[in-house]
Amino acid sequence: MTSGNLLTDNPELYEARFPDPDLLAGRWAEDCLRRYGAGPGVLDLGCGTGRDAAHLHRAGRSVVGADLSEAMLAYAGERHPGPRYVRADLRDFSPGPAGPIRSVGPVGPDVFDAVVCLDSALLYCHTNDDLDGFLASCRRSLSPGGLLVAEMRNGAYFLGRDDLLNTPTDNSLTWQGVSYRSTTTLHIDRTAQLLRRTRVWTADDGSAPVEQRSAWRLLLPQELRHFLTAHGFAVLELHDGPGPRSEPPWQEGDVPGTAADADRLHVVARLTD
Ligand SMILES: C[S@@+](CC[C@H](N)C(=O)[O-])C[C@H]1O[C@@H](n2cnc3c(N)ncnc32)[C@H](O)[C@@H]1O
Repeated sequence: MTSGNLLTDNPELYEARFPDPDLLAGRWAEDCLRRYGAGPGVLDLGCGTGRDAAHLHRAGRSVVGADLSEAMLAYAGERHPGPRYVRADLRDFSPGPAGPIRSVGPVGPDVFDAVVCLDSALLYCHTNDDLDGFLASCRRSLSPGGLLVAEMRNGAYFLGRDDLLNTPTDNSLTWQGVSYRSTTTLHIDRTAQLLRRTRVWTADDGSAPVEQRSAWRLLLPQELRHFLTAHGFAVLELHDGPGPRSEPPWQEGDVPGTAADADRLHVVARLTD
């Protein structure tokens, strides 16, 4: 068995495994940006394949997509052109000349009107220091009154519920004529406050199985509110849906909810100082 990150190393496979044919995530983000009157400059952090960044670009925004994965960035530039794609770590970045974003080339705006961070990318901040680094970076990258729009798993869902835990779930897909099967198991690491995932991929092309390990911060809604407030943000929305990956999914015209009980969490916050 080899280990690696098959999905971030193969962005096309990522899009096949997590399709978003109606571009719900990008449309939902654009809806949030419009509702609160965000200006045009947007930074999409953990932009992955660039599908959402490109949607925001087509909506008329000036978008920078940032990710750690070179493979994702190369794919995004080729398949989802429009935004500028740069390599940056969401836990510590800067729009200034010395920062990792600017170091890759000229960005466009010195500051952004909004930061978006979709599909749990924010939860790659595993520690409190990571979260502080992320929010401090957002703060120095946003213009006054700038917005943070994020969508992620909800740590509160796992309080008293184990339906998603400890039991392997299987998924199959065919990509480029090869049949892939993945078996995913989630478990909670209470000490680190992480949701850990083990995913084993097998393929019918004779290649060795690949084991992929990943983890997300188990972030509770009130904890997130506290971090945001401490970094100068006012929380405008914090709810479990409707959103692009909630059940039922968000549709145009839906109003934001008020509960934070289901397994997705959506936040819109404004930088106030
Ligand atoms: C679950 S994917 C989400 C991608 C995209 N936002 C979407 O909704 O399709 C998470 C992305 O975060 C990126 N990522 C993980 N850790 C990161 C970090 N520390 N800084 C920047 N990007 C990171 C991964 O490379 C991956 O592309």
